[in-house]
Amino acid sequence: MPDPGALMAAEIAEQPAAWRRLSIEGRDQVRAAARRIADYAPRFVLFVARGTSDHAALYAKYLTEIVLQLPAGLVSPSTMTTYGSRPDLRQTLMIAVSQSGGSPDLIQSLQVARERGALTLAVTNQPSSPLAEVSELDLDIRAGEERAVAATKSYTTQLLALYLLLDAVRGGDGSATDGLPDLADQVIADNDQFVRLAERYRFASRLVSTGRGYSYPTAREAALKLMETSYLSAQAFSGADLLHGPLAMIDRQVPVLATVNDGHGGAAMLPVLSRLRDLGADVCCVGAGEAVRAASAGYALPGQVPEEVSPLLEIIPFQLLALHLSVARGSDPDAPRGLAKVTETL
Ligand code: M6R
Repeated sequence: MPDPGALMAAEIAEQPAAWRRLSIEGRDQVRAAARRIADYAPRFVLFVARGTSDHAALYAKYLTEIVLQLPAGLVSPSTMTTYGSRPDLRQTLMIAVSQSGGSPDLIQSLQVARERGALTLAVTNQPSSPLAEVSELDLDIRAGEERAVAATKSYTTQLLALYLLLDAVRGGDGSATDGLPDLADQVIADNDQFVRLAERYRFASRLVSTGRGYSYPTAREAALKLMETSYLSAQAFSGADLLHGPLAMIDRQVPVLATVNDGHGGAAMLPVLSRLRDLGADVCCVGAGEAVRAASAGYALPGQVPEEVSPLLEIIPFQLLALHLSVARGSDPDAPRGLAKVTETL
């Protein structure tokens, strides 16, 4: 019998190599897709995805709005499948994000989008999947086979693929990501720190996860990883939304995972952290060193990376925390209750 979580641990550790591979082998595909998008000149960008892939799409929505200055949105697949919506999608780029490329609702949504005039792009780990086949363009994230139900390496390679693509559309060369694999190796080498953090939160039954701007998708993905591997109730809020109501439920019994990057989003988290401190909350902070030192616990990420690529690194501590928390609570994160690798929702 393999150790509980052996698959998930291996796939977390494979991330730096997967990023290096995508950056080199995926370069031509990224450039070709970027050229086609630039020629098409979309006025709107829509994303469609589920679960972890939806969090990668949320990151890309921030990038599209901030970097490309284009309005962007996440489409709920059910509007086109369950409700049969057929909007006019001319001048729209629709990007489906899916590790498996096999989710029927995404396939149907992309088909509808193509019929309704959108330029379609599938970002997937399976270039011969039905999703890639119905799409005009596709981008292979080259994560290698992902066997663990809890997505880890496919998430960060989705983030990287989407970053490289959107950066290329604005005329960039992706160089902001050059140092990331080495920094990720350092985070993974700090594994023991996450074993200790898992001990700290071993008996928690619920927690809150929060971050702002580019780090909000990280907060959501961290919560999902904890729910599916450790079965605790984890709610994610943007730092802004946390102050608009949910803050009232925070007390010493509800630990808060805070992702604080080195940029605008991180700066906007500082007043949130101060409100949490006033409430005596147990705040576990991941990210910028100063914020981590002022928190109850946490992990300071190595190096300093531009905010727009920080989500690639900042999720790794939470992946490791989810893995070790699951094992500490007597579960096997490779066999989450009632979940399969591909979920069919139509
Ligand atoms: O294959 P897909 O990316 O379309 O799958 C989407 C979700 O089912 C998937 O990301 C799920 O949320 C993961 N188990 C999360 O770790």
